[in-house]
Amino acid sequence: MRILAIETSCDETGLALVEARGNARAPKFKVLENLVSSQIKIHRPFGGVVPNLAKREHIKNLPILFKKLNPDMEKVSTIAVTVGPGLEPALWTGITFAQELAKQYKKPLVGTNHMEGHLYSFLLENPSLKNMFPAVALVVSGGHTMILSLKDLTHWKKLGETCDDAVGEAFDKVARMLKLPYPGGPEIEKLARKGEPHAINFPRPMMYTKNFDFSFSGLKTAVLYYLRDNPKAKKADVAASFQQTAIDVLIHKTRRAAQESGANSLILCGGVAANTPLRNAINTLAKELRIAHFVPPFAYNTDNAAMIATAAYMDTFRKKKYKLAARGDMGM
Ligand code: KG4
Ligand code: ZN
Repeated sequence: MRILAIETSCDETGLALVEARGNARAPKFKVLENLVSSQIKIHRPFGGVVPNLAKREHIKNLPILFKKLNPDMEKVSTIAVTVGPGLEPALWTGITFAQELAKQYKKPLVGTNHMEGHLYSFLLENPSLKNMFPAVALVVSGGHTMILSLKDLTHWKKLGETCDDAVGEAFDKVARMLKLPYPGGPEIEKLARKGEPHAINFPRPMMYTKNFDFSFSGLKTAVLYYLRDNPKAKKADVAASFQQTAIDVLIHKTRRAAQESGANSLILCGGVAANTPLRNAINTLAKELRIAHFVPPFAYNTDNAAMIATAAYMDTFRKKKYKLAARGDMGM
C-alpha cells in the first residue's frame, strides 16, 4: 500500500509518501519521501503559534510541497490526512487539500489521529517487535502528555494524562519566561547544557500520587516565582533544574506504569521525545527494568506526515474510521 500523507495540525506543513506492508503484528514501512515545511520563523515574533497565520501558511505551502513531492499518483493507493487533535483552522486546510486531491485523482481518502501518528512513529525505523508487548508508551508533545498501556499495536488503554499543561507547553512557557525564542523546548535543552540540574529544588507536582496523571502548570508557576524572587539567578541553572524536574516526574510515573503492568518494553514519542536528556533517561530506565525501549529517530519526533501514514495503515487493522472533519480536541 502506498500512502500519500498530509499533516497540518499545528505549525508544520507535512507531506509524505510511505510504502506500507505486513500485518498488524509485523508492519513494515518504507519512507519514500518526507517533506516538512516549518513555520517557526513566521510565528516566532508572536512567541507562539497564531492559528490564522498557520492556516494561511498551510494554504500557501501545501501546493508547493505537492509540486516538490511530485508523486506518481497512479501508484498511490490511499491519501491520509490528520483530522485531529490540533488547531481547527490549520486542520481544515489539510482536509480540504486532501479532498481536492482525492477527487482529482479518484483516490480513497482516510482521516487519521495525529497522536496515533506520534505513537506509531517508532515503526518507521522497522525495529524488531519481538516480545515487545505488553508495552508502556510515554506520549509527550506540545498539546499532550499521557501514559498508555499497550496489549499490542492495535489495542491500548490510557493510564493517565496531564490535568493541565502538557510538558511541551511547559517547556515553551518557561522558555518565554527566560526570554528564549519560540519553540522553547530545544532552546531550554540547549541552555540547560550550561547549567546545573540540581541547582534549584523545584516542586515535583503529583509525582507521588497513586494515579498516572501529571500536572505541569504548578512547576511552570514555581519557575515564574523563582525568577521573580531571584532576579540574579543563573538562567542556565533555571533551565537545567526545570528540565530535570520535568524529566524526573515523567520517568517516575513511567517506571511505575511499567512495573504495575508488567511491561516488556517502553515507547517514547511526541515532539518532546526530541529532548536528549529525556531520551537518555528512558534508556536508563529500560536498562534498570531490563526491558526494551523504542524511540523514533529525531526526524520523526516533531510533527511530520510520515508518522500520519503509519497511523493510516494501522487503522486498517483496527477497523477505525475517522470522519473527514477537523476535531481540535480529539482523544486517543
Ligand atoms: O509533537 P509536536 O511537534 O507538536 C504537537 O503535537 O504538539 O511537539 C512540539 C513540542 C513543543 O512544545 C516543543 O517545545 C517540544 O515539542 N520540543 C521539545 C524539544 N523539541 C521539541 N521539548 C524539549 N526538548 C526538545 N529538544
Ligand atoms: Zn505533534
